[in-house]
Amino acid sequence: MASTLISCLVFAIFTSQATASHFRGGIITWKPDESIANKVTFNFRLAFRRSYRSSYFCDSAMVAQQSIVGSGGRWYANHDLGIYSRLALGDTGYHCTDFSVNEDWTQGENTFNYTFPDEGPWLISYSGCCWISLTNGGNGNWLLSTTVNLTIRHDNGKINSSPISATSPIVRIQRGCPRTISIPAEDSDGDKVRCRWSTGSQRECGGICNGFYSGTLDEEKCTLRLHSNAALGWHAVAITLEDFPASTTNFQMATPFSHVSLQFLVHVAPSSGPCSRAPVLTGQSPDDGSCEEVPDGDTFYSIIEAKHIDSSRRIAEIVTVTPLYMHLTSLLNYTDHVGDSVYYKNVSWNPKLSQKGRHIFCFKAIDEYG
Ligand SMILES: *[C@@H]1O[C@H](CO)[C@@H](O)[C@H](O)[C@H]1NC(C)=O
Ligand SMILES: *[C@@H]1O[C@H](CO)[C@@H](O)[C@H](O)[C@H]1NC(C)=O
Ligand SMILES: *[C@@H]1O[C@H](CO)[C@@H](O)[C@H](O)[C@H]1NC(C)=O
Ligand SMILES: *[C@@H]1O[C@H](CO)[C@@H](O)[C@H](O)[C@H]1NC(C)=O
Repeated sequence: MASTLISCLVFAIFTSQATASHFRGGIITWKPDESIANKVTFNFRLAFRRSYRSSYFCDSAMVAQQSIVGSGGRWYANHDLGIYSRLALGDTGYHCTDFSVNEDWTQGENTFNYTFPDEGPWLISYSGCCWISLTNGGNGNWLLSTTVNLTIRHDNGKINSSPISATSPIVRIQRGCPRTISIPAEDSDGDKVRCRWSTGSQRECGGICNGFYSGTLDEEKCTLRLHSNAALGWHAVAITLEDFPASTTNFQMATPFSHVSLQFLVHVAPSSGPCSRAPVLTGQSPDDGSCEEVPDGDTFYSIIEAKHIDSSRRIAEIVTVTPLYMHLTSLLNYTDHVGDSVYYKNVSWNPKLSQKGRHIFCFKAIDEYG
C-alpha cells in the first residue's frame, strides 16, 4: 500500500510540473557587506505565472503592502573547488512589485544576506521546472545563477560587486517587425559590463542554453536585435552579464570578476497589420536608458505616458518592473490637444536607506493585442 501511495504522489508531482509551465525568468545580483568578512547581500528578481497558484497571485493591494509571494524554493551555493557541500541560502519568496493581468505574470524582488565560510568563488543558483512550453525547445528546466568571488581585487583593492540589470518578463513582438531590445547593464564598481549568450558548461541557464536562434546579440552594447523571421510562439532568452576591468580591450582573454544570468521570454505573434501599430511612450515619460540620481532622503517623481498611433485601439496596461517601495497610481487617462487618449501612471519613490546603490526601473505600454 505504501509504495502505491508514494508512486501516485510522484506521478502527481510530475504531472503538475509537466503542465505547470510557470517560470517567467529573473536575475540575481550581489554586493559585499564591507563590515563583515565574506558577508554578501543578494538581491534577486523572479517572475512567475500569476494564475499558477494562489501563492503567486498578486494585485495592487498586495504591491502596496509589499506582500511576499512565491515562497518555498531556495537559493543554493556550491563552492568552486568543492571543499564544502552545497549550502542552502535564502528562500525564493519575493515582495511583489509588479504584475500584469493581461500577460498573466507577477514579478518582485527580495534580498537576503549570507556569510560564507571562505572567499570562494561560489556559484549561487536557483533551479526548478518548468518554463512555459517553448518554441525554442529545451527541457523546460530553469536555472538562474551568479558567481561570487570575495577575494580582494588587485586593481581597486576592493571586493567586487556584480553587475545589475532588469527586464520585463515578457517582450512581445509581431512577426515581420524589426525590434531591438536594450538590456540595461550597470555596475557600481565602474566596471565594463558585457553581455553574451549563457552557456550550460558554466551552469548559467538550465534547460534553455543556446536555445535562442531568433536574435543577434551585440555583446558590447547589450542590445538584442530580434530577427523579423523569428518562429511564432514563446522563446526563452538566457543572457549572461559579466563585469571586466574598465581598461579591458581583449574580452576573449580577460577573466570577468563575476557573472549574472538574466532570463526572460519573447513572444512572437503573427503579423496583424503595420509594425507601427504598437503603443508608444510619449510626453513626460523618462527616456529609455536614462539614469536618475536620487539623493538620500529624496523622493523621485515621474509620469509614464503612452498613447496609440492607431486611435481605434485602447491601451490596456502600462506594465512596469519597479524597485521595492516604488509607488505607482492605477492607469489614468486624459485627452490631449489633438484629441488622442493619453494613458498614464504617476510614479513616486522614496528609497529606503537599505536601498543605497543602483536600481533599475523598466516600463512599457501594451494594448489589448499585447
Ligand atoms: C543584511 O545586512 C545588512 C547590514 O548588516 C542589514 O542592514 C540588512 O537588514 C540585512 N538584510 C536582511 C534581508 O536581513
Ligand atoms: C577571484 O578574484 C581574484 C581577485 O580578483 C582573482 O585573482 C582570482 O583569479 C579570482 N578567481 C577566479 C576563479 O576567477
Ligand atoms: C478614462 O478613465 C475613466 C475613469 O477611470 C474611464 O471611465 C474611461 O473609460 C477611460 N477612458 C478611456 C478612453 O480609456
Ligand atoms: C499625477 O501627477 C500630476 C502631475 O504631477 C498631478 O497633477 C496629478 O494630480 C497626479 N495624479 C494622481 C492620481 O496622483
